Order: sequence, then C-alpha cells, then structure tokens
Amino acid sequence: MDKQVFIMDHPLIQHKLTFLRDKNTGSKEFRQLVSEIAMLECYEATRDLPLEEVDTETPVAVAHTKVIAGRKLAFIPILRAGLGMVEGVLEMVPAAKVGHIGLYRDPKTLQPVEYYSKLPHDIEERDVIVLDPMLATGGSGIDAVTIIKRSNPKSIKFMCIIAAPEGLKAFTEAHPDVQLYCAAVDDHLNDHGYIVPGLGDAGDRIFGTL
Ligand code: PRP
Ligand code: URA
Repeated sequence: MDKQVFIMDHPLIQHKLTFLRDKNTGSKEFRQLVSEIAMLECYEATRDLPLEEVDTETPVAVAHTKVIAGRKLAFIPILRAGLGMVEGVLEMVPAAKVGHIGLYRDPKTLQPVEYYSKLPHDIEERDVIVLDPMLATGGSGIDAVTIIKRSNPKSIKFMCIIAAPEGLKAFTEAHPDVQLYCAAVDDHLNDHGYIVPGLGDAGDRIFGTL
C-alpha cells in the first residue's frame, strides 16, 4: 500500500463541504450535500479498480475499450449518519451490495456501543468501503472495521467526510492496512468529543433530530 490517508482537496468537494458545515444549512440540503460529497469521494476511492479490455462496436467501427473487471463491491454505512452517504455511492456503483453496522457513541464515555450488524452473505468475495461522515475519536470507525474484518472481506477502505487529528491517528494505528478517504482534517476535538470546527452532529443534521 503506497499511501494510507487520502485528503480530497478537489474544488467541488471543498465547495460543498463549506455549505455542509454552515449551521444555517437545513436537513434537506444537508442530506443532498452529504450524498454529493460521498459520490465524489467514491470516484477517488474506486480509482484502483482493475479494468479489462473488450471490443465494442460503435456505429462507425470496433473500438478497443475497457470495463471494470468483475470486481464486487460492498458499501457498509455505520448507522445512523453513514446512511446519508449510501445514495451517492450507489449512483456511482449501482451493482454494489449494502451491509449495515449499528454503533452509537455513549455520550458519557464516548465509547462505541454495537447494536446491529448485517453484512452481505458473500462478503468474502467483496471489496468493502465503510461509510461514516465523521471520524472523531475514531472509536466507531475502528470498531466497525474490526467487526467487518471478522467476516474476511477481500479488502476494506474507509470513507468519511471530516476527520479529527486524534481519530485519524487512532484509526491508522489500529488498522494500518485500511486506506482512509476524507474531505478535511479539522483542528481538534472538544470536551464532548465533537470535531472543531466540524459540522455538529451529523446524524441529527441528516435526520432532523436536533
Ligand atoms: C457519530 C458519527 C460516527 C461517530 C464518530 O455517530 O456518525 O459514527 O459519531 O465518533 P467517534 O469517532 O468518536 O466514534 P453517533 O454516535 O452520534 O451516532 P448516530 O449516527 O446514531 O447519531
Ligand atoms: N459525531 C458527530 O456527528 N460529530 C462530531 O463532531 C463528532 C462525532
């Protein structure tokens, strides 16, 4: 693995991230932005999918072209906020399967608590991309990947939108074999484990439960 952490500084992602952070952005627009950023991140996270050559008849002649070489993907959102990223990535890879891992952070201990897990039955044949907009302490992402590793997928990548330096360090130390894609690394965590400046509580903003 050449590189473990990819910070996506593409202007379209950075522009959308600005409006995502804005406290005046309502749930409808917030959901749309999460979905669009996930779609753009997915473009980069799938860059290494192998291609095979095929011949395609155009109306004019035979073109020597390429298609993705039968690689199977699974997206696994961490509930709840990861759900907001699913629509965008499925726009890019409609044939992917979707598993779910339910984790919430105990507000006092900040430790993740697992409450649900349902993964594709053929996960051993699949490359997995885990989805969660926020990597704060890193506890939820680390635990989700640990749970998924028990099912032996072919590979695992982790896609978030904002990471805290603390979470990034913890995650890369816990799972040095998992590549991580994010749109920004913020300043620090506050005393409540929120990313500063961040965007607030992603799940609450997606589902309007503030
Ligand atoms: C949020 C977020 C991550 C987690 C990140 O979920 O979606 O899963 O916090 O924090 P961590 O890196 O410190 O573990 P939350 O626990 O608020 O649950 P929810 O998505 O159900 O609201
Ligand atoms: N979870 C969130 O949704 N936001 C944060 O800033 C930290 C954890």
